[in-house]
Amino acid sequence: MTAYMNLDISSKFKTVIVAGATGYIGQYLCKTLVSRGHRVITIGRSTPPAQDALIYGNINVEVCSRADIEVIKGSIPRIDVVISCLGSRSGGRQDSWLVELEANKNLLSLAQSGHAEQFVLLSAICVQKPRLEFQFAKLAFEEVLVASGMPFTIVRPTAYFKSLAGQIENVKAGKPFCVFDNGTRTACKPISGRDLALFMCDCIELPEKLNKILPIGGPGPSVSLKEQGEMIFRLIDKPCRIRQIPSAAFSVIGTLMAPLGFFSQRLSDKQELLRIAHYYATESMLFWDRDAKRYSAEKTPEYGSDTLESFYKQVINSGLKGHELGEQKFF
Ligand SMILES: NC(=O)c1ccc[n+]([C@@H]2O[C@H](COP(=O)([O-])OP(=O)(O)OC[C@H]3O[C@@H](n4cnc5c(N)ncnc54)[C@H](OP(=O)(O)O)[C@@H]3O)[C@@H](O)[C@H]2O)c1
Repeated sequence: MTAYMNLDISSKFKTVIVAGATGYIGQYLCKTLVSRGHRVITIGRSTPPAQDALIYGNINVEVCSRADIEVIKGSIPRIDVVISCLGSRSGGRQDSWLVELEANKNLLSLAQSGHAEQFVLLSAICVQKPRLEFQFAKLAFEEVLVASGMPFTIVRPTAYFKSLAGQIENVKAGKPFCVFDNGTRTACKPISGRDLALFMCDCIELPEKLNKILPIGGPGPSVSLKEQGEMIFRLIDKPCRIRQIPSAAFSVIGTLMAPLGFFSQRLSDKQELLRIAHYYATESMLFWDRDAKRYSAEKTPEYGSDTLESFYKQVINSGLKGHELGEQKFF
């Protein structure tokens, strides 16, 4: 654990422990919290990049290990808020439960022992219609958090810009843009990392955000998969070429693989990845209107000012550096 710089406590500026600070949103969040005057202490198995030199300290610990968290409980400074931006890097079955439930439970107990006044959880809008292991794990922790008595805010964002940029290099290289079915079945109101970080800062500064579950999208309008492809071709000034892939292909391959998953954790995780791919090929990342039994772009709250078009322009010119998708990339 690193030494902490002088912590002068005032009520306006908070001491915030951020888990997942090395991740995509966590990095934006740390910078934004610091720029708004909050004192950031990061926690996790990896050390955040050097540019986050303004953070007050880094607690280097295995957040998935209950025993390791118990050991550090007595040695951390007073905390006002704990924010979890954790997420399974692989989306695999075991890893999802370990990270999305167990690690978050450990962070909650840390928050409770430090008498924190709020726990902010970065969740996902797709938990509204759960079918995947990581969604059930996220929901399980949401329930633990709400029942704990700890004041909370649960943020359920739609798709991040980075998740919609995976095909730009292929398209620039002359390949068609792949859509599922006819490309209009799903839509989202994507949000930039910067805007989501600003929204999460609001969650610790504005009392009306307390004890709420907040679905959140970018500035809109909603955009379908086909419209994303059309936008990329327009921006690179090439004729639009769309290749349609039947979404059922994922479930067919997944079903064929199912028996093998009983014998190998690796194959079981591959099967889960196919189920994730099928989910995103068929479900929108928008607010699910239970009464109307449909996704509603109108009812998906909007926030921020960064547009997908300006993000695409930046990636077309400068590449995906800093927006990599890791193991969750399908193309
Ligand atoms: N991608 C989207 O479009 C989208 C949309 C809505 C919601 N979300 C959710 O938003 C959250 C953050 O997403 P993101 O893209 O910022 O995630 P990310 O870049 O993959 O970062 C994940 C963070 O969790 C940490 N982590 C993962 N496994 C861990 C483990 N076993 N032990 C300790 N730390 C671990 C990572 O630390 P290390 O650096 O040590 O690995 C990293 O800091 C996730 O919960 C995700 O499900 C994503």
